[in-house]
Amino acid sequence: MKRFIPNASFILLATLILTSCFYSEAQKCRPSGRIRGKKAPPGQCNQENDSDCCKEGKMYTTYECSPPMSSNTKAYLTLNSFQKGGDGGGPSECDNQYHSDDTPVVALSTGWFNHKSRCLHNITISGNGRSVVAMVVDQCDSRKGCDAEHDYQPPCPNNIVDASKAVWKALGVPLNEWGGLDITWSDA
Ligand SMILES: *[C@@H]1O[C@H](CO)[C@@H](O)[C@H](O)[C@H]1NC(C)=O
Ligand SMILES: *[C@@H]1O[C@H](CO)[C@@H](O)[C@H](O)[C@H]1NC(C)=O
Repeated sequence: MKRFIPNASFILLATLILTSCFYSEAQKCRPSGRIRGKKAPPGQCNQENDSDCCKEGKMYTTYECSPPMSSNTKAYLTLNSFQKGGDGGGPSECDNQYHSDDTPVVALSTGWFNHKSRCLHNITISGNGRSVVAMVVDQCDSRKGCDAEHDYQPPCPNNIVDASKAVWKALGVPLNEWGGLDITWSDA
């Protein structure tokens, strides 16, 4: 009787199939829900620097998760002010403080913020051929939005690194291009 002895290519194939199943499972970050936009009351929703305001009746997708992390996680860099009176709203969630536009600080989408586990830790952001170290001070809330607490701004997409001016400056991005850039980041 001939026994089945797995050869190298069989093992390789089986491993590939198993890891790809596992990987695609881990890849999934599905929306957690949707919220209906409410128009900001007069004087609310600071539109400074192109901040987005919720539109009445528009549906916005919400997330509890962010895409899985790697050693160089892809993300989209946006611009925010963490200063008092800036478009970031109240003080930062990690330390209940405001932060100068001249210090490199960021907010991360809810999944990556991971229940404050990255609070006051530094991350390395790479983009535009340079990199910069910045401190995580806040959450870019992917679960909620369009309310007073979020200055009537839509929920954050789940792949955002929302950064102060200092970060954009350090990456050497020309001023007229500030606001949106494909980047990668990792824990510093
Ligand atoms: C936003 O715009 C105002 C006025 O145009 C400017 O003074 C401020 O520094 C800007 N904030 C950021 C974060 O770019
Ligand atoms: C993050 O970087 C800042 C500025 O370089 C530094 O003062 C701080 O100690 C660092 N934080 C951690 C947790 O390493």
